[in-house]
Amino acid sequence: MSETYIVHIEKMINEGLSLGKLGQGIKVMVPYAVKGDEVEIRVVKKKKDYWIGTIKRVITPSPMRTNPKCPYFGKCGGCQWQMIDYTYQPKLKKELVIDALSHLAGLKEVDVLDTIPSPRPFNYRNKVHFPLKRVSSSSVIMGFYKQDTHYIIDVNECPLHLPQFNEVFKKAKRYIGERGLSVYDETKHSGFIRNFTLRGSERTQETLIVIVSNGEYLRKSTAIDLMKMGNSVLGVVENINPKRGNAIFGRENRTLVGTSLYHERVRNYTFIISATSFFQVNTWIAEKMVDVLDGVMQEIGEVDVIADAYSGVGLFAVASAKYARKVYALEISAESSSCAYKNIAVNNKPNVEIINGDAEGLLQTLGKVDVLILDPPRRGVGDGIVEFLANSKPPHILYFSCNPATLARDLKKMVEVGYKIEFLQPFDMFPQTYHVENLVYLKR
Ligand SMILES: C[S@@+](CC[C@H](N)C(=O)[O-])C[C@H]1O[C@@H](n2cnc3c(N)ncnc32)[C@H](O)[C@@H]1O
Repeated sequence: MSETYIVHIEKMINEGLSLGKLGQGIKVMVPYAVKGDEVEIRVVKKKKDYWIGTIKRVITPSPMRTNPKCPYFGKCGGCQWQMIDYTYQPKLKKELVIDALSHLAGLKEVDVLDTIPSPRPFNYRNKVHFPLKRVSSSSVIMGFYKQDTHYIIDVNECPLHLPQFNEVFKKAKRYIGERGLSVYDETKHSGFIRNFTLRGSERTQETLIVIVSNGEYLRKSTAIDLMKMGNSVLGVVENINPKRGNAIFGRENRTLVGTSLYHERVRNYTFIISATSFFQVNTWIAEKMVDVLDGVMQEIGEVDVIADAYSGVGLFAVASAKYARKVYALEISAESSSCAYKNIAVNNKPNVEIINGDAEGLLQTLGKVDVLILDPPRRGVGDGIVEFLANSKPPHILYFSCNPATLARDLKKMVEVGYKIEFLQPFDMFPQTYHVENLVYLKR
């Protein structure tokens, strides 16, 4: 029989875990427990520095506990925090960020503001990826991976994504199953359909279906059938990804029917977004990010040059264009840069120049920069950016990040080359999960 202990949960930590301590200071990490819970745990793993336990029963529930809304919660790895009442999630995320800054970078004095909550605690995701697996000649399972595995939990709907996706998802799942379409088997690297992605906008009521295939596979007639799976469906795109591994999208897209672009609205701006280019996953929070950017830029006043590095389809370049004579939008993806051209046109921002390439190298070619906006992928910024900051010394930096660990690492380097952190603003971009988006304003 496995060992059981009673633990008081002290705090939430990364990866959807919580932390408590046993006698002799042994740390125990427990999934699905909540700060303030008293739980009986079963020890499932003993590591040198900590143990891992699963909840056997909740003895005294934390006041932050609530009943998860979704029947798949706890099995599906799509979200980890549905057992925490939404009122408390932003506060707990602020604590996560403070912890990351202090433990990973020794930054203890940062002015971390209260997390801006998501106006939508549910039904916010504008992009969702479903892996799938054939289980009989007439059916497939389709849903989300169980946490940290490639085991697919079959779901029929999800409370996190846009409501318009549910109908399309259910009908498409049935269709792919019954038509006997070839589904990819990652262990054998054979079969075709690897992933079913939906993305779109609630505001414009537009949805794109993106089917990721292990090679060119889909027929136009299939795409025509898929177009009928919901009134919002505007187009069906096949993305070709023949490579083994976890990257969802491959490099090549084929638009089979309709369009490969959809429109999103953020405040008064319109964004044209293509099937596989990046866009912030919670439009309601993208709007809050633009509001905070606006506030900082109003404080700074008009400047000569803004560089928006890692600019995607141009969200921040477009939104900051009114504050500068010239904005450079630096983006490595040709597909996103091509959307950015459309977005400066549709929003009438002729002072934005799109430059397609590696932001690290491109920044060195720009000359004087007054405000540098950074919004890198999860891995954070490269050393080239820190070098640019040390040499060119732009007076203002606005660093957006979806990864507190790499953010903490990068902030430490920025402080070392002479910057002072004015404030850090967390945003709850990903309600019901432990993920948190942040904006840091630095000055020198
Ligand atoms: C987190 S997204 C931010 C996009 C944009 N700021 C937005 O809010 O929509 C990061 C972007 O950085 C781009 N990227 C990744 N590595 C890059 C690099 N070395 N140079 C320029 N862009 C890069 C990605 O293609 C992606 O569009």
